[in-house]
Amino acid sequence: MAYSDKVLDHYNNPRNVGNLDKKDPNVGTGLVGAPECGDVMKLQIKVNPETGVIEDAKFKTFGCGSAIASSSLATEMLKGKTVDEALQIKNTLIVNELSLPPVKIHCSVLAEDAIKAAITDYKAKSVTPAAVQTA
Ligand code: FES
Ligand code: FES
Repeated sequence: MAYSDKVLDHYNNPRNVGNLDKKDPNVGTGLVGAPECGDVMKLQIKVNPETGVIEDAKFKTFGCGSAIASSSLATEMLKGKTVDEALQIKNTLIVNELSLPPVKIHCSVLAEDAIKAAITDYKAKSVTPAAVQTA
């Protein structure tokens, strides 16, 4: 199967690989696995609490080229969006952007799931009173 140029570009030069501080109350972490293949994706966002805008996003993906490219693209899409806008990012957008073939659609689903998981984690943390968080 041939990967598109865009997949190869993101695979060879992945954007925003790395970690954000999990303990930072403005950081949300999503860790998801694909039942189809066992690949694992970790995606993190850092939100400006004043504006609700995602200022930074990082990922680590243990998986196939399409999963790496999907998460790399996802981190690019996330930056500058509000949390609510980020929730609108659909895997189909990633599929179109990267021209993923049908067998690789689940790799983009993994990215959408990782975004949602990171946002859920951020929201859970931001409604938790600081006193409880340090407990
Ligand atoms: Fe082997 Fe995704 S199935 S890396
Ligand atoms: Fe399973 Fe890509 S995430 S093959």
